[in-house]
Amino acid sequence: MTDSALTDVPSRGETAEGPPAAQPTAPYLDAITAYGFRGSTRFHVPGHKGGAGADSGLRNALGERALELDVPQDIEGIDVGPSPTPYERAEQLAADAYRAAHAWFLTNGATQGNHALCLALAGPGSCVVLQRNSHASLIDGLVLSGGQANFVAPEYDAERGIAHGVTPETLATALAETPHATAAFIVSPTYYGMAADVEACAEVAHAAGAALIVDNAWGAHFGFHPSLPRSPLQLGADAIIASTHKIVGSLTQSAMLMVAESDRLDAGAIARAVRLLRSTSPSALLMASLDAARRQLAVHGEALLERTIAAAAHAREAIDAVPGCTVIGDGLVGEPGIAGWDPLRIVIDVRATGCTGYEVAAALRASYDIYVELATHATLVLVLGLGQPVEPLERLAHDFAETVKRMWRPGEAPLLARPAGAFEHETVVPPRDAFLGAGEAVAVEDAVGRVSCESIAGYPPGVPALLPGERVTAEVVAYLRELTAAGARLHGAADPTFATVRVLVDER
Ligand SMILES: Cc1ncc(COP(=O)(O)O)c(C=O)c1O
Repeated sequence: MTDSALTDVPSRGETAEGPPAAQPTAPYLDAITAYGFRGSTRFHVPGHKGGAGADSGLRNALGERALELDVPQDIEGIDVGPSPTPYERAEQLAADAYRAAHAWFLTNGATQGNHALCLALAGPGSCVVLQRNSHASLIDGLVLSGGQANFVAPEYDAERGIAHGVTPETLATALAETPHATAAFIVSPTYYGMAADVEACAEVAHAAGAALIVDNAWGAHFGFHPSLPRSPLQLGADAIIASTHKIVGSLTQSAMLMVAESDRLDAGAIARAVRLLRSTSPSALLMASLDAARRQLAVHGEALLERTIAAAAHAREAIDAVPGCTVIGDGLVGEPGIAGWDPLRIVIDVRATGCTGYEVAAALRASYDIYVELATHATLVLVLGLGQPVEPLERLAHDFAETVKRMWRPGEAPLLARPAGAFEHETVVPPRDAFLGAGEAVAVEDAVGRVSCESIAGYPPGVPALLPGERVTAEVVAYLRELTAAGARLHGAADPTFATVRVLVDER
């Protein structure tokens, strides 16, 4: 078990002497490699038999080695045998790297972690405090668990249409309104890389007798370089999810759930929930990639981050000099809801070019084959990786400047999509009752005043604008229509064109 003290831990994922012992090993990766390549006769699943029986197109696409490593659960020497097995050791090493008490490898993304946390902490009839711009997976978790949420509004930059973190003060107010809340769920960092004051939020939550759960999906690298915010677990959070694939470099769909040594939550209940939500055939490739990514982060993370942060700073400076473009980030630290920022995000406010972020993103694609993480009306968000190749970053400023020069039409500042006050919603029934209740699809213009069965979020950023159980308002309809017209994808909507929306039959 790891050192559970939440204070006096080094600010990086290491001890005072260097990376914690054994971090340079990757026991699960090594175990599946040993099995995969030794030529064992496989009379078990999967049916492609290490690739020999696979379609030749798939073999060419993935390569034989990947198929040889696609091994199932319950193989002696990997996850069966004397404890700790390589699998158990790999999860423990992940916990050690983050100074957590327990870590679980997830093969259905951080989404699975949010679902598990809701099942464990927000059972039927209970009410938790939840940041309103949380990822859709937390609302879906409440649909699964039967819990309810008292929403806490994030700070909102109405000019740019960007939601930030919650402040400790608003969190305290929401907790005071929710006296039996077992947990408060906050997001840090946001899609835009802004980190909340997790330490103060933890104090507030703990004073109210609630666990602080941090959706750290975008911050799996936090705590591994002195210029980055510390990991929420080092700041008093009781549990975090980390979408390891997003920035740290494991394979897409792999993630981790981690808990601190805490009497505010039941690690056994979380383990049961993770098992319930897990396939009996989790992908060994995904889990091996988590083991490897953890090793790389714990051992080489600081050096890799040093290089990436320096290259990002140059790119940021050059883009900031492009007429009409302003790079935002560290300058916002200290504003409400922003206690830190992530230099692995390049957030560009393009309003003064007269173009929308959607238009600039489309032009970058068309001219330079450059794909960004997120485009909104006002901004572009570029996400860098832990070991980001530097050369594309060096090219970026040139390509960006040329693109903007061709499109430049100042004076036509784009409209903002999300109206101020868009986080004020009336919850009529719990998310589970609305999602599972008798519903009907009606034209969106007829849905105003009715109760939504759907969770609808513009994706990216995956922040729900309408939740199951909430009354549909004219503002939300206008916002979602504007998003669809601008080319955003609506996640969770039964009708992705947003011509119709599903509402409860009985609640009017
Ligand atoms: C804040 C946040 N939490 C959770 C998730 C879900 O992560 P995953 O895609 O790994 O399931 C996302 C995905 O974008 C996210 O942005």
